[in-house]
Amino acid sequence: PKMVAPKIEEEPEVDDGKKKVTIFYGTQTGTAEGFAKALAEEGKARYEKATFKVIDLDDYGADDEEYEEKLKKETLVLFFLATYGDGEPTDNAARFYKWFAEGKERGDWLENLQYGVFGLGNRQYEHFNKIAKVVDELVVEQGGKRFVPLGLGDDDQCIEDDFTAWRELVWPELDQLLRDGDDTTGATPYTAAVPEYRVVFHDQPDASLLENGFGKTNGHAVYDAQHPCRADVAVKKELHTPTSDRSCTHLEFDIAGTGLAYETGDHVGVYCDNLLEIVEEAERLIGLPPNTYFSIHTDKEDGTPLSGSSLPPPFPPCTLRIALTRYADLLSSPKKAALLALAAHASDPNEADRLRHLTSPAGKDEYAQWVVASQRSLLEIMAEFPSAKPPLGVLFAAVAPRLQPRYYSISSSPRMAPSRIHVTCALVYEKTPTGRIHKGVCSTWMKNAVALEESRDCSWAPIFVRQSNFKLPADTKVPIIMIGPGTGLAPFRGFLQERYALKEAGAELGPAVLFFGCRNRRTDYIYEDELNNFVENGAISELVVAFSREGPSKEYVQHKMAEKASDIWKMISEGGYIYVCGDAKGMARDVHRTLHTIVQEQGSLDSSKAESMVKNLQMTGRYLRDVW
Ligand code: 2AM
Repeated sequence: PKMVAPKIEEEPEVDDGKKKVTIFYGTQTGTAEGFAKALAEEGKARYEKATFKVIDLDDYGADDEEYEEKLKKETLVLFFLATYGDGEPTDNAARFYKWFAEGKERGDWLENLQYGVFGLGNRQYEHFNKIAKVVDELVVEQGGKRFVPLGLGDDDQCIEDDFTAWRELVWPELDQLLRDGDDTTGATPYTAAVPEYRVVFHDQPDASLLENGFGKTNGHAVYDAQHPCRADVAVKKELHTPTSDRSCTHLEFDIAGTGLAYETGDHVGVYCDNLLEIVEEAERLIGLPPNTYFSIHTDKEDGTPLSGSSLPPPFPPCTLRIALTRYADLLSSPKKAALLALAAHASDPNEADRLRHLTSPAGKDEYAQWVVASQRSLLEIMAEFPSAKPPLGVLFAAVAPRLQPRYYSISSSPRMAPSRIHVTCALVYEKTPTGRIHKGVCSTWMKNAVALEESRDCSWAPIFVRQSNFKLPADTKVPIIMIGPGTGLAPFRGFLQERYALKEAGAELGPAVLFFGCRNRRTDYIYEDELNNFVENGAISELVVAFSREGPSKEYVQHKMAEKASDIWKMISEGGYIYVCGDAKGMARDVHRTLHTIVQEQGSLDSSKAESMVKNLQMTGRYLRDVW
């Protein structure tokens, strides 16, 4: 995402004889951006005679022409590209990707370009690093020369290690490429410094510091991740029955009068608070009073930027209590860079050594086991190394990452709920290998939220809407097949509200089948009455429910699909759309296989013909997935 930090003035393009390296990033949660900046920092330190520029792909060009014009002039570029969801580019890379991936007929126009790509993905997902792979191939096709092999970062293992390994391949090549005559560019050895904000402590909050960025309106015409909208929780309901050992929350954000708008099928991003017990534990470990009032800065006192400007933009001045509540990710496993930052501030040398060991090549397996596989949280690790007390500037720059917004498929339609955004959220509550009970940050916040119905002093959160392409067909008569077990039902509740509203307004509806799945009719059949109403009023033509824990054997949505194979085939043949929402690693993969089988058997096709037919459905936007 784009950053709120003031734009750094474009340096005038003077030809100072320096070779220029441009580093692009497509980032969603900031990892790709962090890698891009870290590489640039190190590059600057290594090569006095080169310039390194880090660029958000969205900022590179205002339109396709500008992308083309500028890219044509580049000679040395690196891409850091994350893939997320169902093989999609990040929001800030979407425009670039669309332009670049669709313009295959440009010839060898990139023949002056030397480039490298590092992808950020997760092997658990079907489209592992798709965006990086596609861009890497397309640059070669258009004449570019790959100077370092494609790096495939895998977040399922240790993506930091993947980056470190790839970076070691980059330097020897750059040593060559940046060589200037006989001079070897004076490549110098390099050790990364621990990043740190400048911190100012304030005695008492003066009025100008009290605006914490979330007044009634945020002064921006458009709300986005950097400029969220404050929204009250109007309604909260538990969707499971009391007999369930799990929990699922229905929440309604009030957006009346905010100017925030959404469409059926969009996502809502929610910035939530950490639980008080977590914040208190963090305060204890840091050893500073909760009312410590401070601000963080990326410049020196005289206004010049701090060296090593790879810091995320500062949050507004606030107390330590608020900073830890709103801005610090305290429960994820720390990255190796965080352990190094802790080591740098551990007063006990044994603790410092052990922390450094965990980040070293010799400690690789131990890190994978003791930190990642054990799901040790940052707080658990800080508790193990009590002498490590990083100052606030280091804590927020290098130890605790920024708490990220969580995304939910909106479960309402603006045609039914124009002033509300509905969310359907399953509670994350699980025991980790160390015996810690992990309470999901946002789902726990939602479960505990106080609704306006109960109190005028209700809960609120900064939220924003992210558009999606998970949309009903424009023609209401087109048949649709919806598959969404568990909270995968969320966007379909929106779809059905929309169809119902359209029908009331006189539209003619085509057939709609919904495959829903849950464990047991009496515990987690969420929105049961509403779904039955949608059947009665014609928004759904057929409701098929798989109960996985009622009978002697598991019954899942894909089993029900197989039973309905000929109906599904008929709807597809009539131009129908297929929608899948829910868990990507298990359910969506199994459903995909089932769909393939249905197409193959019902259409009497061989496996490869069936595959290309399913691909074609995907390409033409008739098979859409909203998966996580
Ligand atoms: P289970 O918990 O009994 O395994 C919503 O979470 C529903 O999806 C539950 O009934 C759950 O069943 C089911 N589910 C779990 N894994 C699935 C898979 N791979 N495909 C389809 N449904 C699945």
